[in-house]
Amino acid sequence: MILAIDGPAGAGKSTVAKQLARELGLTFLDTGAMYRAVTWIALERGVDVHDEAACAAVARSMRIDFDDQGRVRVDGRPGEPRIRAEDVTAAVSHVAAHPAVRRVVVPMQREEARRRGGVVAEGRDVGSVVFPAADFKFYLDASPEVRAERRARELGRPDLYGEILLAMRERDRLDTTRADSPLVRADDAFLVDSDALDAAGVVRAMLLCVRARARA
Ligand code: DC
Repeated sequence: MILAIDGPAGAGKSTVAKQLARELGLTFLDTGAMYRAVTWIALERGVDVHDEAACAAVARSMRIDFDDQGRVRVDGRPGEPRIRAEDVTAAVSHVAAHPAVRRVVVPMQREEARRRGGVVAEGRDVGSVVFPAADFKFYLDASPEVRAERRARELGRPDLYGEILLAMRERDRLDTTRADSPLVRADDAFLVDSDALDAAGVVRAMLLCVRARARA
């Protein structure tokens, strides 16, 4: 079974996807971590993140896999916490916008899902492009203000709210306006708005959808 969860940065997709995977006995596939891994290695090698061919060459040269906790690895090296650092976060939207990079990474995502037999995948295009035939598709949305406020709280830095909000809007802009596989809600995706729901509430709503169909 494949469950696809798309939505903007900071909507809570990975928290929800991990819980849902646990509930359903599936594994969690963090597709954004793969673009972050490519970005990390590109920065490490001094590659210009705006150079599409060079970024694609980086992606082709790496072996990306996941440990048994679902954390990304590059040639056996753990990607966490390096892939969450600020320089990677600021550059990743540029790297992920390159079609030549996506042509390398998307087949890896499909292969991961095939190898594992079933996944809860989260990202920006997992329902629309990577797994168009997913059994369930969700689009998890939340307003930029709520997402920025949650992120600031997570970091324990309420003073950074304004800065985080600006960075989040910029990432949304890049992710939704790129030519290849922009962030969109697939026609057949259930829309879940997390502004008024905590993670447990979102998981409950999604499980209701899954179980309702299983009974139908
Ligand atoms: O979800 P995240 O913040 O870890 O994603 C990192 C970047 O990767 C984000 O800017 C969008 C991009 N991404 C993508 O283009 N397609 C995906 N399926 C997942 C993430």
